[in-house]
Amino acid sequence: MENHQLILVLDFGGQYNQLIARRVREQHVYCEVKSYKTPLSEIKAMQPAGIIFTGGPNSVYDDASPRCGREVLELGIPVLGICYGCQLMAHLLAGTVSDAAEKSEYGKTEVRLDRTSTLFSDLQENEICWMSHTDFIANAPEGFRVTATTATCPTAAMENAEKKLYGVQFHPEVNHTPHGTDMLRHFVYDVCGCTGDWTMGKYIENQLASIRRQVGDGKVLCALSGGVDSSVAAALLSKAVGRQLTCVFVDNGLMRKNEGIEVEEAFKTRFDANFVHAKAQQRFLNRLKGLSEPEAKRKAIGEEFIRVFEDEAKKIGKVDFLVQGTIYPDVIESGLGDSAVIKSHHNVGGLPDVVDFEELIEPLRMLFKDEVRQMGLELGLPEHLVWRQPFPGPGLGIRVIGEVTEEKLAILREADAIYREEIANAGLDRSISQYFAVLTDMRSVGVMGDGRTYDYTLALRGVTTTDFMTADWARIPYEVLDRVSIRIVNEVGHINRIVYDITSKPPATVEWE
Ligand code: XMP
Repeated sequence: MENHQLILVLDFGGQYNQLIARRVREQHVYCEVKSYKTPLSEIKAMQPAGIIFTGGPNSVYDDASPRCGREVLELGIPVLGICYGCQLMAHLLAGTVSDAAEKSEYGKTEVRLDRTSTLFSDLQENEICWMSHTDFIANAPEGFRVTATTATCPTAAMENAEKKLYGVQFHPEVNHTPHGTDMLRHFVYDVCGCTGDWTMGKYIENQLASIRRQVGDGKVLCALSGGVDSSVAAALLSKAVGRQLTCVFVDNGLMRKNEGIEVEEAFKTRFDANFVHAKAQQRFLNRLKGLSEPEAKRKAIGEEFIRVFEDEAKKIGKVDFLVQGTIYPDVIESGLGDSAVIKSHHNVGGLPDVVDFEELIEPLRMLFKDEVRQMGLELGLPEHLVWRQPFPGPGLGIRVIGEVTEEKLAILREADAIYREEIANAGLDRSISQYFAVLTDMRSVGVMGDGRTYDYTLALRGVTTTDFMTADWARIPYEVLDRVSIRIVNEVGHINRIVYDITSKPPATVEWE
């Protein structure tokens, strides 16, 4: 069994809930995010070494605001409240939270810290912190002392060290609080007594043991898309159960240049599992014939993926387990309500319905993306696969604008490969979050040699982002764009014009379709 120390993050709807968990895990302390509604009995059973209350958009005085019982503060387990979580702590313990602030405090703010507090012990007296609040704590609860203030906030931090209860009005988890990680480290190590016993190596060992226990001598099936998550999940499983695993790689023919071969090569040479490379480009092209509307294309590709996988699964027959590469951000309930569907994302998520299996295995469901990458490297997957930039399930099918044909795919694949090569040559491949070429369905007049051309316009896209919910267009140096442009028109046929996309998200999206 896994027997590492645990920090529990109770989520009150804050937008930074996952960030808090990541910061704690960066300290080699295991951390999980749970809803504020988690029953007390469950919290106790988890035996956390400490609890962190997140921020949230509410005011503790609203009847509908998310709350936990005061009992959580009476378990003798250290608690750190952040922003709303700090106000909630004050409110539950009969301090006063006021909404009579003359103005909200927002942004980088100078705070004055009391360095006798364990949280702030090796910091400067004046530090910059990220604030985002309107309500404030006018009076800390009895038994608490104020350990930080700002020009407008009388209680920027408070604590009752004896009861191990701490609160900060600011956000130590964001980068805008330069020494926030130090504060979190002080909390988990010096207050909660954690020792940093969580490492990827140990986590992998535990996972291997628990997968072997779960699988016994059963048969396991895994759908490989070539993406990071499914590749790492497959690598872990093959390490755990070897030939009891069959990986089915659905090659939709909509991948980038050489990608299909690279995935096959990575698995066949490194891992001892059964590997099926289902080359299905023609099936996908047939399905896409005559379709030009983005959602119709997405739907067709998603459905065909399932059909191809289903056909392969039938050949294998009944299996005991199906592997899914679900990762932690998909598991954590979001504090947000339903949002409008802008694009229907197709991932390998719809498979359980078409495979005859007993149990799902989701070995990555507790990991963040950067941890999945780290696991991939430790399992011996090649860097180019582990650091692969995000690539949509429908692949080049949504980067060829309008109807997809084999000819257009070939043009785009070559152009995109040149773009990627030049970005890598310029050393920009890790600093631009995602970059790719799009083949538009627009043609225009050009001149080449002495002749008139009437050919396609290619668009280059590059974005920087941390979460892909919003993104800025990447400021790629002109010289790099120039090299890319010259090479593409010279080396790839049927492109006579190249444009660079300078819209951010919103109002645009990252992909064009
Ligand atoms: P958008 O275009 O929605 O893209 O701004 C945001 C991020 O999501 C990726 N993307 C997808 N990923 N299946 C995926 O797994 C999809 O259908 C899909 N569509 C967009 C996109 O590449 C970007 O990283």
